[in-house]
Amino acid sequence: MSAPALAVEGLTVRYGSLTALDDVSWTVDDGEIVGVIGPNGAGKSSSFAAITNTVPHEGECRLYGESTSGLSTQALARRGLRRTFQQNSFFTGLTVLENAMASLQVERATRLLPSVFTPWREHAARAATRREAAELLTEFGIAARYHELRPDDLPYGLQRVLSIVLAFGGGTRVLLVDEPAAGVGGDDMRNLAALLEELRRRGLAIVLIEHHMDLVMEIVDRLVVIDRGRQIAYGPPGQVQRLPAVLEAYLGRTA
Ligand SMILES: Nc1ncnc2c1ncn2[C@@H]1O[C@H](COP(=O)(O)OP(=O)(O)OP(=O)(O)O)[C@@H](O)[C@H]1O
Ligand SMILES: [Mg+2]
Repeated sequence: MSAPALAVEGLTVRYGSLTALDDVSWTVDDGEIVGVIGPNGAGKSSSFAAITNTVPHEGECRLYGESTSGLSTQALARRGLRRTFQQNSFFTGLTVLENAMASLQVERATRLLPSVFTPWREHAARAATRREAAELLTEFGIAARYHELRPDDLPYGLQRVLSIVLAFGGGTRVLLVDEPAAGVGGDDMRNLAALLEELRRRGLAIVLIEHHMDLVMEIVDRLVVIDRGRQIAYGPPGQVQRLPAVLEAYLGRTA
């Protein structure tokens, strides 16, 4: 049997004396969406920070069977693991199209290296990247009329789509998405669900942090529930939803 796209084992994150994440373990495969839910402050975003090696942590992460220990966030991105953030994080000085070009450059950085010695090749490569970036945006519903705007000037729902498209880039295989539907309403939410389902259909392994339960229950294959750092449930959404520990975490506990 081949290794999962991403396996997380015993992941633990401490900020000083606070244990934000305590011994969390799950896997995601190609063509799957795994949901990560839990109350505010449960440790969900910290798990993404740990997986992308931006905070110190204990435990083991394996990307297609290989340990990610010691690899920089950039190196992980080049290997196909990328995340989005709870708040939009664009290059605000660049246009939408330039943001998409920058996203495509991540996986291309090494391939382009020899071309710095031949300016005309660099120019041709840049033009090709520009074309590809425009295609990428258009393909996922960000029409040409938006490409020359700054990301902040897009309608909010489209900004959330842009976050995912940028993280998807071209070479991403494992995508960590942190609350894509934060602050969006009905139609935009359905749009985001359709986008994530399309990426899954293309074989991506997706890990989705999200508070909108209707969105989560509709699209995830498996669900991880974290409460105050601890993993209290893991399994198919229909089963997890009925567990007493989960109901208690969501419906409030007796003091
Ligand atoms: N960089 C940091 N330094 C210190 N404490 C932090 C840091 N980041 C998060 N925390 C704390 O760790 C805990 C988990 O935070 P985290 O952001 O992972 O939760 P979350 O589940 O993503 O919450 P939310 O649903 O509100 O986004 C919280 O108590 C938070 O205050
Ligand atoms: Mg968070």
